Amino acid sequence: MEKLVIEGGRPLSGTIRIHGAKNAALPILAASMMAAGSHIIENVPNLLDISVMLDILRSLGCRAVLDDGKVRLNTATAHSYHVPEHLMSQMRSSIFFMGPLLARFGKVQVHQPGGCAIGERKIDLHLRGLTALGARIEESADTITCEADQLRGADIVLDFPSVGATENIMMAAAMAKGTTTISNAAREPEIQDLQNYLNAMGARIIGAGTDTISIDGVDRLVPCSYEIIPDRIVAGTMMIAAAATRGDVTLVNVNPSHLNSLTHALRRAGVQIAAENDIIHVSCHSRLKSVERIVTSPYPSFPTDLQAQVMVLLSLADSISIVKETIFEGRFKHVGELTRMGADIRVDLNSAFIRGVPRLYGAAVEASDLRAGAALVIAGLAACGTTVVEQIHHIDRGYDRIEDMFRSLGARIERIACAADASSSGT
Ligand code: UD1
Repeated sequence: MEKLVIEGGRPLSGTIRIHGAKNAALPILAASMMAAGSHIIENVPNLLDISVMLDILRSLGCRAVLDDGKVRLNTATAHSYHVPEHLMSQMRSSIFFMGPLLARFGKVQVHQPGGCAIGERKIDLHLRGLTALGARIEESADTITCEADQLRGADIVLDFPSVGATENIMMAAAMAKGTTTISNAAREPEIQDLQNYLNAMGARIIGAGTDTISIDGVDRLVPCSYEIIPDRIVAGTMMIAAAATRGDVTLVNVNPSHLNSLTHALRRAGVQIAAENDIIHVSCHSRLKSVERIVTSPYPSFPTDLQAQVMVLLSLADSISIVKETIFEGRFKHVGELTRMGADIRVDLNSAFIRGVPRLYGAAVEASDLRAGAALVIAGLAACGTTVVEQIHHIDRGYDRIEDMFRSLGARIERIACAADASSSGT
C-alpha cells in the first residue's frame, strides 16, 4: 500500500500533456475481440484498470502488451468465452466483454462486475439490450451466461442513457443480422470513439454522439490500428486543480469541445480559460466566486466524474454553491474528508450545500473511490500544510501517476510506501 504526501499552497504552473481516455480505451480493447488478428491501439494510458483489461484479454487466450502508450494485441488465439471471477470483481468495465464475446463466440459467461462503490450500478439495461438482440440469458447466484446462435437487429429504447449499456449493445449489434436502432442512447465522446474504432474494423454504425444510434450488422470485422481520444476527465481534473491553486496551466492534447460544461462552470467561478485547437489555458489569480448550482447529468451536461473535484473548488469560493448529483446515489463520500480539511459542506439527499471558506488545511484523508481520490489530491495541493492521502490504488485506476503530473506543474507531492509495506519490503 502506498500514500501521497502533499505540501500544499503552491500555485500550479506550466504545461501538461493529457493522456488517452480510460473510458474510451476500455470498451475499445474489449471490442478488439470481435476481429481475430493483430491490432495496434495507441494513446492508451498506463492505468490499473487498463492492466486488468489486458489481464482479461490474456485470460481469454489473446496476446496483449502495453508499451509506451501502445497496445499490441493478437486476438486470433482467443479460445475462451468465460471472464474469470477474480478479474471481473476488480473492475466494472469487465462487463464490456458481454457484447464482443457474444458476437464472436455466440456465448459469454461473466460474473457480477466490481468497480468504484459509488452507487448500486445495476446491469439490467445491458441485459435487456442483449435479450432484445436475441440472446438467452441465465443468471445464477454468481454467474451470468448469455447465448445466441445468431444475434438479430432490433429497435431498443434505453430507459436511461447508460454509457456502458449503449456501448455493449453497439458492440453486440455490430455483428448481428439486420439493423439495430438504439434510442435514448448515451452521447458521451467515448461512445463516438468506440463507433469510430468499430467502423475502422468494418462495422456500419452512425449516430454516436446523438441520442439515436443506428447499426447495420456485418458478417465480419477485420483488425486495425487506432488512436484513443484524450481523457476529458483527467483534463478537467487538471483544469480544476489549476484554478483551485490559483495557478496558470496549459493543457495540450485535449479536445476543448468535450469540456464545454466544465469550462462554463469554471468561467462562472471567475476562472480565465482560453482554448484553441487541442490546447486549453487555465489561470486564476483572485478568490473564486461561488456558483449557484451545478447539476451532474449525462453528457453534454456536467459530468458526474468531475463532481468531487469541482466541489473542492467551490469549497474555496466566496459564498454558497450547490452541487446536485443525479447519476450515482453514493457519490458524496469525499465530503467527510473535505470537511476534515476545513471545508464547510452540508449534504441533503443528493444535493451538497457548500459554503466557501478562505482556505483549506492539510489533514490525513482516505480516497473512497477514483474521482473522490483525485478531489482529495486537489484539496491537498490547495491547502495550507501537509496532506496525506491514503488508499491511492483507487486513484491509480484512472490517472497515470497523478503525482508525476502535478510535480511537473511545480507541486510538492510524493508517493511513499505505507509503514507496514516499508518494513516488510526490507526483509
Ligand atoms: C460510465 C463511466 C463512468 C461514468 C459513468 C457516468 C466508463 C468505463 N465508465 O460508467 O466513469 O461515471 O459512465 O457518466 O465509461 N444503470 C442502470 N442499469 C444499467 C446501467 C446503468 O440502472 O444497466 C444506472 C447506473 O446505476 C447509474 C446510471 O445508470 O446510476 C449511469 O450509469 P452508466 O451510464 O451505465 O455508467 P457506466 O457505464 O457504469
